[in-house]
Amino acid sequence: MSLVEVEAAVKTFAPRQRGGDPVGALREVSLQIEEGETLAVIGESGSGKSTLGRAVLRLLDLDAGAVRFDGVDLGGLDTRQLRARRADMQIVFQEPYESLNPRLAVGAIVAEPLEIHQPKLGTTATRKLVHETLDRVGLPADAARRLPGELSGGQQQRVGIARAIINRPRFMVLDEPTSSLDLSVRAQVLALLAELQEDYNIAYLFVSHDMHTVEWVSDRIAVMYLGEIVETAPTRELFDTPGHAYTRTLLSARLSADPREKHAYLEFGQR
Ligand SMILES: Nc1ncnc2c1ncn2[C@@H]1O[C@H](COP(=O)(O)OP(=O)(O)OP(=O)(O)O)[C@@H](O)[C@H]1O
Ligand SMILES: [Mg+2]
Repeated sequence: MSLVEVEAAVKTFAPRQRGGDPVGALREVSLQIEEGETLAVIGESGSGKSTLGRAVLRLLDLDAGAVRFDGVDLGGLDTRQLRARRADMQIVFQEPYESLNPRLAVGAIVAEPLEIHQPKLGTTATRKLVHETLDRVGLPADAARRLPGELSGGQQQRVGIARAIINRPRFMVLDEPTSSLDLSVRAQVLALLAELQEDYNIAYLFVSHDMHTVEWVSDRIAVMYLGEIVETAPTRELFDTPGHAYTRTLLSARLSADPREKHAYLEFGQR
């Protein structure tokens, strides 16, 4: 049994404009994620990566299919049971500032999941754990009193990570967690995520459209195209011997500055 099992997940969205076609954001998507591993999901914009990440955590309901976490079918849980499970499953978003309450001090933001999942912890122990966690993600002690808007983008993302790890989850969805950050900061935050995974044995579903990032962080890669996973392979294998034509176009767009290849990539996207 894998830690996370997605089985033939289907999600169709109603068209955003009247007269438009329904969008098959997930078309029978299946995947497994093992304890402590990183599965990256790559694919172009609109291929269904974020929908998949949210579906795995049951932040949205599926039209068909199932998600099991640690053998438990999340679709069979009521709101209270699902809430309790959330201590083990967390998410970090692409835009840290938008995902943090701008009016709450950082200390209160990071304490929030503790108050939900360990309400009997008490003020002193909560405060201690918040400070330890801020320190763990590389934030200065006085960050607890600051508002998110007073921090840099990289620091804001560290707050999002602190909030996600404070209950020691076993699984995290990272939805383009470094895409909005400068290159130098990006490397630091990726290194932090790798350390946390190592220390706490957290499994990651790492959503990205950046091949360089994915090559560095993942054990395996799932390639999404128009709501389907077209190929899943160990990272090295996928880069060395991509099996699917779409994977090859993604890789060649990364490797080549040749405008003709770029053109081929765009053509594939329009099919
Ligand atoms: N709430 C929604 N209502 C209607 N359509 C939606 C909704 N959420 C997503 N979609 C559509 O579903 C498809 C998949 O969207 P999703 O956000 O999962 O893609 P993505 O791979 O994460 O893209 P990006 O790289 O741009 O973040 C897109 O066509 C999108 O427009
Ligand atoms: Mg997305």
